[in-house]
Amino acid sequence: MASTYSASLSAAIDEFLQQDEAPLYPGELTSMVARAIDQQHIFLQAAQRFGTPQYMLEEERLTAQIQRFRAAFAHPRQHTWVHYAFKANPTLPVVRRIRAAGLAADVSSGMELELAIRCGFDRIVFSGPAKTDDELELALRHAGRVTVHLDSFLELERLAARAAARGISVNAGIRLSLQSHGAWTKFGIPAEQLPAFVERSRKLQHVRVQGVQFHLSWNRQAEGYCQTLERLGPLLRAQAPAGGWHFVDIGGGYYPEDDEAVYPWLTPRGRIRAMLGLQPAEGPPDDWDLRYLLHPVQPVETMAARIHQAFDRHIVACLGPVDLWLEPGRYLVNQAVHLLLQVADIKGPEVAITDGGTHLLGWERLETEHVPLINLSQPGSAQRRCRVFGSLCTPHDVWGYTYYGRGIDVGDVLLLPAQGAYVQTLAQRFIKPLCQTTVLQTSGTLRREESTETFARRYPRCSGRRSTDGCSGNRDTA
Ligand SMILES: Cc1ncc(COP(=O)(O)O)c(C=O)c1O
Repeated sequence: MASTYSASLSAAIDEFLQQDEAPLYPGELTSMVARAIDQQHIFLQAAQRFGTPQYMLEEERLTAQIQRFRAAFAHPRQHTWVHYAFKANPTLPVVRRIRAAGLAADVSSGMELELAIRCGFDRIVFSGPAKTDDELELALRHAGRVTVHLDSFLELERLAARAAARGISVNAGIRLSLQSHGAWTKFGIPAEQLPAFVERSRKLQHVRVQGVQFHLSWNRQAEGYCQTLERLGPLLRAQAPAGGWHFVDIGGGYYPEDDEAVYPWLTPRGRIRAMLGLQPAEGPPDDWDLRYLLHPVQPVETMAARIHQAFDRHIVACLGPVDLWLEPGRYLVNQAVHLLLQVADIKGPEVAITDGGTHLLGWERLETEHVPLINLSQPGSAQRRCRVFGSLCTPHDVWGYTYYGRGIDVGDVLLLPAQGAYVQTLAQRFIKPLCQTTVLQTSGTLRREESTETFARRYPRCSGRRSTDGCSGNRDTA
């Protein structure tokens, strides 16, 4: 009697909690798998020629993403500028291709600003909190091509004083933090302080405030942008800088389709089931059907159309012609870089270890998010259960709980697709070297862009002749 009662109670709880998963829907990232299998030959060739692990940039795919994004946002009447957010992937072959495609740059540090300048970008926005004096000076030395997005009242005063001392003028935007940003309120000024900020800037001759910037992350639909634009229109109309408003920069956050999926056992429902003892506390339950939970993602064309509509209605209708600025990072680059690994050991039918560790991703991301792992040496479109780990001395070094393929053996080459955004930038130097980068050029040829980190590169002061008192660098400081 008691067990019938608890079974029906847990079924009722289960049904109730299932509602939490909307709008996620069950499925697999099959198009990523099909595309990888289609290109099996070239990936295997790269692994054989350069070894593994390796990040491989597919130039053609990057170009295709750039073209699709630009075409989506092209508008007959609305002047639109696309600034690539360097933070997503500031490696040289990516940045050079972005420049060659004619995009502008969005940088967030002096290091990125210098890279954009050296790579020849002639339109650069410079955002980010707590810019240093050196960073502001660098921006001023290149004031002809840099717009500084001001993060605070203090930064306005600091930039104005430096610009006045140099006797030059610099263009600026105001980073706004809107209430809906949550933790993002650390950026910019609250929207209600905009009138005071504009008022103050009117008194500072050398800083020409021309626009505002906001940023919302992880947008799978256009609604967030549209609602923010609706709120901004009346605010901007109420108070304009001396030369009027020239642009509204709506930041980045455009989410690509087919990116990553959610493990069903980690949803709120899954976690509560685990607490109730209805599934294991960690990892997939035994009866898992090998499906994931997918996010509905609006195609970029639909997002762009909705954003343009909102921009027209809430900004242009309020202020007259104003440029629309965009700062995409992830959308442009994520699908263009893949990680190639090799199976180094098999510890039983359902446990494999690869030669690369997840320090190459920067954090233990695949413990909580799914990206398909594809066995290129034994390709197949069906999944098999297997815990695939990396080679680090931590159990959290997980690539996934299945692979796509007909089997798995030592020496097999595995592909983790779509690792272009916030991966190479976040990679950690934990235990093992950072790995090489190769490029599959548009011409179809492969080349190595950067080699695997060596001992000498990581420890330059300890890499000379061996001595009995330890590393040669110690002597300099003794
Ligand atoms: C101000 C700003 N612009 C653009 C981006 C790029 O975002 P995404 O790569 O999601 O497009 C970010 C990311 O954090 C950002 O903070």
